[in-house]
Amino acid sequence: MADLALPDRPDAPETADNGVWLHCIECGETHPPFDDVIYTCPECEGLLEVRYDRYPTFDDFEGRGVWRYDAALPFEEGVSLPEGDTPLHRAPGLREEIGVRNLRIKHEGMNPTGSFKDRGMTVGVKVASELGVDRLACASTGNTSAALSAYGARADLETLVLLPAGKVAAGKIAQASLHGARILEVDGNFDSCLDIVQDLAARNEAYLLNSLNPFRLEGQKTIGLEILEAFRDDHGRFPDRIVLPVGNAGNTAALYKCFREMVAGGDLAPGDVPKLTGVQAEGAAPMVEAIEEGLADTRRWEDVETIATAIRIGNPVNAPKALPGIRETGGTAVSVSDEEITDAQRAIAGEGIGVEPASAASVAGLRKLRESGEVGSGEDVVCLTTGHLLKDPEAAAEAGSDPEPVANSTDAVLRLLAGGSGNRIDVLGRIRRLLR
Ligand code: F0G
Repeated sequence: MADLALPDRPDAPETADNGVWLHCIECGETHPPFDDVIYTCPECEGLLEVRYDRYPTFDDFEGRGVWRYDAALPFEEGVSLPEGDTPLHRAPGLREEIGVRNLRIKHEGMNPTGSFKDRGMTVGVKVASELGVDRLACASTGNTSAALSAYGARADLETLVLLPAGKVAAGKIAQASLHGARILEVDGNFDSCLDIVQDLAARNEAYLLNSLNPFRLEGQKTIGLEILEAFRDDHGRFPDRIVLPVGNAGNTAALYKCFREMVAGGDLAPGDVPKLTGVQAEGAAPMVEAIEEGLADTRRWEDVETIATAIRIGNPVNAPKALPGIRETGGTAVSVSDEEITDAQRAIAGEGIGVEPASAASVAGLRKLRESGEVGSGEDVVCLTTGHLLKDPEAAAEAGSDPEPVANSTDAVLRLLAGGSGNRIDVLGRIRRLLR
């Protein structure tokens, strides 16, 4: 069983560099952070966590974006575009419909490459440049590859991305392509791509920047810090619950680490920690299965399918960090159908907020948990929307309304508006043709 308890007074071990070290959550061994390239514990292959000789408090933070939180990070600055400082939208219509005290949408699609992955990459690519590696690599359902390609370009490093063939949304491939990554399309799912990238990293062929890399999660912690600060400023208290889509479970692990560190630093009371609530698609729900069955780790799902391709993942590598996060905070995990995801995507869009399908899973999950009574009407809830609508134009067009062709005259437009039937055209087919 993973041990994620933070000591009250952290003593830097001899392996520490400037008060930073790597800690194995399975065997407790500590390792130097920047000497050798390691992703898991060399002793026992357990997951590693970045540890510090001091914990942050809210007073330590100044500036904007991810690097506002440098007191909680291994460096004072990173390879930056810059990232973070995303909006915490109000969604009054949705709040009313779902029936909770407050509903806020933390829209991570507003990061430079359109997803939360940028927060991890500003730290991870900085570590890569400190280590002096030659080639960056990741497996990806799309967003990680888009972010890595942009940050790799920014740091002038070669970038290799492995994608499941035919299962990555068009906007994400376009990003990786234009930022100059080498893109390999693998005849397999995300989990097989990650197996291969881990092999490449073990053979020193590339520096791995998936969320197995503990430094990525340090950057992603700042989502939690931004939510805590902004919610407290607006409502005078911290949210009861954060609902988020779960794929590889990196974000869930990162948010839990954020809360543990703020509790250890004394600025967050243990009773004020938001309940981490994970949402997966029904066709890719190993975390939900593990929560329901009380497992310490997930069982690998070989066959996964969902419209939310970003979370089409059967083997969440961060489960040993994320499952305790869900359990210890009193949260839960729930799965939703593709139809529920698309409905939620439309409802969020109706508030003016454009998100990709995986992101909408958070709101779909909240709806379901509210209907079942698991979430109460008095709760303050933040839903995390992880990626921008434009990431997956096909899914958006399919969920949305179709354009109508009209003759080139005001009269024709007026006739149409007066109720004459237009020939509805096949917008999805048109986008597909354009993307070809
Ligand atoms: N939402 C979006 C839009 C994502 O792209 C991902 C993960 C998740 C949610 C799940 O986050 O893995 O931290 O639980 N995308 C990865 C990728 C796997 O390759 O882009 P997680």
